[in-house]
Amino acid sequence: MSKGRFIVVEGLDGSGKTTQARRLVSTLQATGHLARFTAEPSGLPIGKLIRQALLDPTQLGEATLPYLFAADRRDHLDREILPALARGEVLVCDRYVGSSLAYQSFSLPLEEVWSLNARFPAPDLTLFIDLPLEDCAARVRARGAALERFEDMDRASALAAAYGLSMATLKARGHKVVAVDGHGGADEVAARVWAEVLRCL
Ligand code: TYD
Repeated sequence: MSKGRFIVVEGLDGSGKTTQARRLVSTLQATGHLARFTAEPSGLPIGKLIRQALLDPTQLGEATLPYLFAADRRDHLDREILPALARGEVLVCDRYVGSSLAYQSFSLPLEEVWSLNARFPAPDLTLFIDLPLEDCAARVRARGAALERFEDMDRASALAAAYGLSMATLKARGHKVVAVDGHGGADEVAARVWAEVLRCL
């Protein structure tokens, strides 16, 4: 049985990260790997609480969220990710520490967000689906989904910058982070993703 691998996919809304994470799982399965998709916030109780709080921000103080994301991550690791890795599976996770460093840096200083996440295991590979903000917004618009995240373009571009800083911070802390060009069709991007993943299997 192959050794377990933990692969994270990060990117802005509209970058294609979730499509690519799911396609990667299919490709892994088709090539004989025991692979599964997972995501954060998780489907566990703390993840559900976070999703409720994101829908109604009055439920929690802003500074509470970074702790909840970290608690959800601990629970997700202990109850789903680490046991699956121990069984030799390849886990593909949509968002992980990189999302906290990007999004929660609006609630707490980046160093504090890092310290909440510093002890979590580093993935074998973090793939950042790299697509300019304007292209991400255009894709979200094209699929007719809720555009509220892009309505405030100042906030969206601050988030894009925070994501850049997040990826640089992860690299500086020893995580293996690879940016994958998100331009082009899903097949083209999937081929780029697969080329990177093959190096780490
Ligand atoms: P997600 O389910 O990926 O939303 P979508 O698929 O619509 O992009 O994530 C939900 C929200 O949670 C998203 O706005 C990003 C945020 N988030 C954080 O702020 N910090 C985190 O650590 C994670 C994992 C997600």
